[in-house]
Amino acid sequence: MSNIRETLEVKISTALSSVAELPDSKANVIIASRSEFGDYQANGIMSVAKQLKSNPRELAQQVVEQLGHDPLIDHYEVAGPGFINIHLSNSWLEQRSKELQNSIQSLIPQVAEPQTIVVDYSSPNLAKEMHVGHLRGTIIGDSLVRVLEALGHKVIRQNHVGDWGTQFGMLIAYLQSLSTDHDIQSTQLADLEVFYRAAKARFDTDPDFAATARACVVKLQAGDTQILAIWEQFIEESLHHCGAIYEKLNIKIQPSDLRAESFYNNRLQGIIDDLNDKNLVTVSDGAKCVFLDQFKGKDGNPLPVIVQKSDGGFLYATTDLAAIQFRGVELGAERVLYVVDARQSLHFQQIFAVAHEAGFVKETCKLEHIAYGTMMGKDGRPFKTRSGDTIKLVDLLDEASRRAFVLVSDKNPDLDNALRQKIAETVGIGAVKYADLSKNRTSDYIFDWDSMLSFEGNTAPYLLYAYARIKSILRKQEDTSVSSSNIIITDNAERALIIKLLQLPEVLQSVAKDYLPSHLSTYLYELAGIFMRFYEACPILKAEPPIKHSRLLLAEITANTLKEGLHLLGLETLEQM
Ligand code: ARG
Repeated sequence: MSNIRETLEVKISTALSSVAELPDSKANVIIASRSEFGDYQANGIMSVAKQLKSNPRELAQQVVEQLGHDPLIDHYEVAGPGFINIHLSNSWLEQRSKELQNSIQSLIPQVAEPQTIVVDYSSPNLAKEMHVGHLRGTIIGDSLVRVLEALGHKVIRQNHVGDWGTQFGMLIAYLQSLSTDHDIQSTQLADLEVFYRAAKARFDTDPDFAATARACVVKLQAGDTQILAIWEQFIEESLHHCGAIYEKLNIKIQPSDLRAESFYNNRLQGIIDDLNDKNLVTVSDGAKCVFLDQFKGKDGNPLPVIVQKSDGGFLYATTDLAAIQFRGVELGAERVLYVVDARQSLHFQQIFAVAHEAGFVKETCKLEHIAYGTMMGKDGRPFKTRSGDTIKLVDLLDEASRRAFVLVSDKNPDLDNALRQKIAETVGIGAVKYADLSKNRTSDYIFDWDSMLSFEGNTAPYLLYAYARIKSILRKQEDTSVSSSNIIITDNAERALIIKLLQLPEVLQSVAKDYLPSHLSTYLYELAGIFMRFYEACPILKAEPPIKHSRLLLAEITANTLKEGLHLLGLETLEQM
């Protein structure tokens, strides 16, 4: 059994159905909001009683009698107008928590029916360097992938990088205009942002250059070998920049997960042909469009999905349709998740509807946009540099490490410089990631260095420090007989800690269900707080065995749980801080 809440809900619902003789009557079990209501509380009995026109307290009493003896339960209690308060048994809690000592893996529930899930995340545009706008999708996507995989799903990551649009003609033409010397070209690409801006300035002011750039796109998409070679050089350089970011961020996306827009190039005509065959295409102003009834503009006029421009060019949407088909058919996806900015919400609604309408994927294949809000500066506007430029991700991450270094040096001036540097990197990157993951995914969020780097509150430094502190307590004990000892509940603080530890399964299930890593971060923050209360109420090293050993075991299990939870969010832990 891994999810206590669910187990209780099934038990009580079964008992309720049998006494009420209503086959599908369901109880609803929640974590009790106050300790006097027990550990869990069941409701739903009142509404069944209402249907039966019977007394709810009496019905609840009958349910309790029906439930009978259960090793998990100490006692039930009928409360208020017909709730059942559930008190878990101490001996069961002691035994179950002891099982966690060697492996907390049993706290990671395995799904009954594993699915093949394709997750499209990060997916930057390679024309420019990754900037802060790519941070959220990369971090959130990575954490969701970790959780889904841990629960037993087969996850296929897809980095749908943009490498094929009109911008590339401009960049190729600019690179060509500078020099034909490969080494000189490489140097020019060292700062892609600067390179892009220079190319764009030239494009905007020099009509001849603009014409060359446009011709380059046509040549590129027609497969001109010379142009392709320059393009490849550019893409390679840009991917190299991305790889460095992924490494800094500790993101589990590999070069083999790359499936760029260009990959779909030779499938785009097929998409148009398929749509045509299915009579879904309407020509409007020369462009090929798909109109679906459910999409209307503000004026009530139908809204098109344009799939081919009048000049024959394909669009972002066309590529996405080809990608959906590829994912459903060739990758065998049963679910495809798109971790992409909320501003693309209409685009995804439209292409999902077109894909289903055209039968590009099976009816049963679920397509979901996991939208996230914008990262804002303290002024409440999209996060930019003082001069209004976008912030390069590499600069932001370097600044995180720099700021964390000051912090770590303050706290621990005697540590060796190299070690402090290493700690600062983990804390700095962890702080940036955690600040994002702990916020509601769907809202905009304010990026604030001071709050994310604070040792107080729901932050990475707080959690990493809590973990390191437990590890240092564990290092102070030399007694090797600890591992063979039992867990003994002597105080409510121990009991509360055990119950919290055993709630990890339901938290992970809710992360996967709602695609909200913030459920996990809230849990870890609360767990650290409950541990601190336990630590204050229950002396560890000063206690005598076997209680001392029991408490050491609880500390160790807590540390392992924090580590695993942080790992599922994509954060590394430190044994010492
Ligand atoms: N490259 C796109 C951008 O930067 C995001 C791609 C998201 N994935 C997709 N299949 N459309 O906005």
